[in-house]
Amino acid sequence: MLFSNKIIPNQVFELPIFRQKGIEVFIKREDLLHAEVSGNKFRKLKYNLQQAQKEQCTGMLTFGGAFSNHLAATAAAASACGLPSIGVVRGEELVHKPLNSTLTYCQSKGMQLHFVSRDTYKLKDKGIQPLLDQHPSFYVLPEGGTNHLAVKGCSEILKDTDNMFDTIAVAVGTGGTMAGLTRSAKSHQTIAGYQVVSDVAIPKHIRTFVGHNRWNLDPCYKALGYAKSPPELVRFAIETAKQTGVVLDPLYTGPMVWRLVQQLKSNTWTHGNRILIIHTGGLQAIAGINARLEKQGSLLRWPY
Ligand SMILES: Cc1ncc(COP(=O)(O)O)c(C=O)c1O
Repeated sequence: MLFSNKIIPNQVFELPIFRQKGIEVFIKREDLLHAEVSGNKFRKLKYNLQQAQKEQCTGMLTFGGAFSNHLAATAAAASACGLPSIGVVRGEELVHKPLNSTLTYCQSKGMQLHFVSRDTYKLKDKGIQPLLDQHPSFYVLPEGGTNHLAVKGCSEILKDTDNMFDTIAVAVGTGGTMAGLTRSAKSHQTIAGYQVVSDVAIPKHIRTFVGHNRWNLDPCYKALGYAKSPPELVRFAIETAKQTGVVLDPLYTGPMVWRLVQQLKSNTWTHGNRILIIHTGGLQAIAGINARLEKQGSLLRWPY
């Protein structure tokens, strides 16, 4: 069964800086939930696929960029449920380029790729009305998969055994995962979100799902850009993998942990001392990022 109630114990996550600062850190290995539908994608798709089946939808349609974990996971989950899928991909210039590993994977799962310009992509559903008209019984999921059912799924990430933590750290793209965590957090817990993309609408988006203020957003993208994989970040990921045995992903949890460590080093960490980091998966993007590093002539590779 795709969405089983698998429980993976938290793992000690020990970097020298945590010891120096007297901070206890664990990592929740959501990346291990499922080989192909991992991390927050598992949580976000669970109730959405159930809903699609309940509504007897005949396929799934969603949106994403060229390295999108969400496209890859939707393709895999739809295929596992015997449903065809369509991925609306940002960037019409990609039509003329060889597919990267993420998009090749999506196709291998039967996803039909539909490339659109960045302007059309910004219009969301409105930009692809003819495609929607051709597939009236497809279940449409927004970019990143964030909607109220996705937030419901993400509110199942924290368990009672996580009450020992005072801070939950998570990477933020659209804000759905953070909204789910914030909803289920206990009154002594703060959610420290690390925004990896520049989007002024995110706080408002989170507030549509969450009724309290025990959350905070760090503009992580200002230091690293989005999906840029600068050498400093790649070296950090290599070192972290050696020291902890945990491979982080290049777009979300990797940048988030890098930034958290920067905050500790610069004494600007303002949260607690029992931290739970959520590993939201996304390891499928590593192959594409490494291919890009190679093309750029970099000798560094993201660990995998
Ligand atoms: C691996 C991974 N982690 C975290 C996020 C951020 O989740 P959200 O969009 O719910 O903020 C995403 C994508 O959106 C992701 O693919």
